[in-house]
Amino acid sequence: MADPIVLCRLDEIPEGGAKGFVIGTGAARRDLFGVRRGRQVFIYENSCPHTGGPLDWQPDVFLDVETAHIQCATHGALFRIGDGFCIHGPCLGKHLTALPARIEAGRIWIEA
Ligand code: FES
Repeated sequence: MADPIVLCRLDEIPEGGAKGFVIGTGAARRDLFGVRRGRQVFIYENSCPHTGGPLDWQPDVFLDVETAHIQCATHGALFRIGDGFCIHGPCLGKHLTALPARIEAGRIWIEA
């Protein structure tokens, strides 16, 4: 069973924006990112279902220019922010891997 950990404070992710995270070390390292929409946050593995590579083309840049979708930097796949479903690109119909997250006392908790 996964242990809950604090990822960061909610206000460390800018409103309407995204932020990357690394948790664990060595073989236990996991690359994640979060997208904030008001009091909601969506946490995913930073791994594109097309190749397994990272989605960001610069640190903390995970969204398209309209900040309406998550966009993979490598081949431009677009994913819905709310559920990680790919709506455009080479991995059409696949999902990002989501991690359950909750906000308590202004902090983002995940099961990792
Ligand atoms: S690696 Fe993400 S779309 Fe190809």
